[in-house]
Amino acid sequence: MNRYLPLFAVLALFAGCQQKMADQPAHRPYEESSMFEHKQSLRPLESGVIHRNQKLSDDALLTWLTPAGKSIPADAEWLKSVDPTGKTAPPPGAPTSNNNFVKEFPFELHEEDFRRGQVLYNANCALCHGGAGHANGKIPERGFLRPPSYHTDVNAVAKDWSTLSINKETGKAEPSYTGNPRGTSRGFYRYGQEQTLKTVNVGYIFQVITWGYGGMASHDTQIPDAADRWRVVGYVRALQMSQAASAADLTDELKKRLDQPKTAKTAKTGEKH
Ligand code: HEC
Repeated sequence: MNRYLPLFAVLALFAGCQQKMADQPAHRPYEESSMFEHKQSLRPLESGVIHRNQKLSDDALLTWLTPAGKSIPADAEWLKSVDPTGKTAPPPGAPTSNNNFVKEFPFELHEEDFRRGQVLYNANCALCHGGAGHANGKIPERGFLRPPSYHTDVNAVAKDWSTLSINKETGKAEPSYTGNPRGTSRGFYRYGQEQTLKTVNVGYIFQVITWGYGGMASHDTQIPDAADRWRVVGYVRALQMSQAASAADLTDELKKRLDQPKTAKTAKTGEKH
């Protein structure tokens, strides 16, 4: 008797098993199947189904648009140049007016909210917008489209990083974003509005984080919790205040520190903030 025969028999047995296992009646999503009427293995979702933990669009945390921002009239002045028939209405959320966006945060922000906003800002935004929001992050430094600064005001003509780049031939700084030389909100500028990022309503900043804008991708997957996105908006507002604060705005405690000569000790406490 061939002494390998039992081995062959065992192998043949396993080969049989392998074939059966590879050919299971399990379906992949959307594969053809005769089981259901619509001939797909995946059942269609019932209308109105929501993901677990999904926020509904009328949840206070997600209502960053005012009723005006949700349905923008087709007859706005700027539209006439684009569509003389006056029939095209801009999509919901188009920054045709600051009134399209809520002015107030959906919840009160406390110190810990700003601290959380700071952590998220430093992790998700500073790489492009810069630690203090002057649009001087590492990414634009390497050639990526430079974002607008959070700090320019309407009268600041090309004196911020967001509107300057170095001309390689002359070695001099020149305005680089010619479409919007003042470095104001580009979303608003597109609809013929000059609106600085300091004066845009908080709802607009929330929208830019959630949907992205132009060259900036949406950040709702990086910051999935809507409340966290509001905390980042809060931190952006805090940065804007910090860069424009005068000594008179400071608490007495901080004013005293201003007058002190910098010692190793005060420099160290300064680091914390
Ligand atoms: C990869 C770089 C990058 C990151 C990361 C990034 N941004 Fe931006 N952001 C941009 C660029 C570029 C623009 C300008 C887009 C354009 O002009 O097309 C912009 C524009 C903006 C604007 C102004 C929109 C307008 O109307 O002018 C705001 C506000 C903003 N970003 C906030 C944020 C916040 C908050 C975060 C973090 C959650 C963030 N960005 C993360 C690159 C970035």
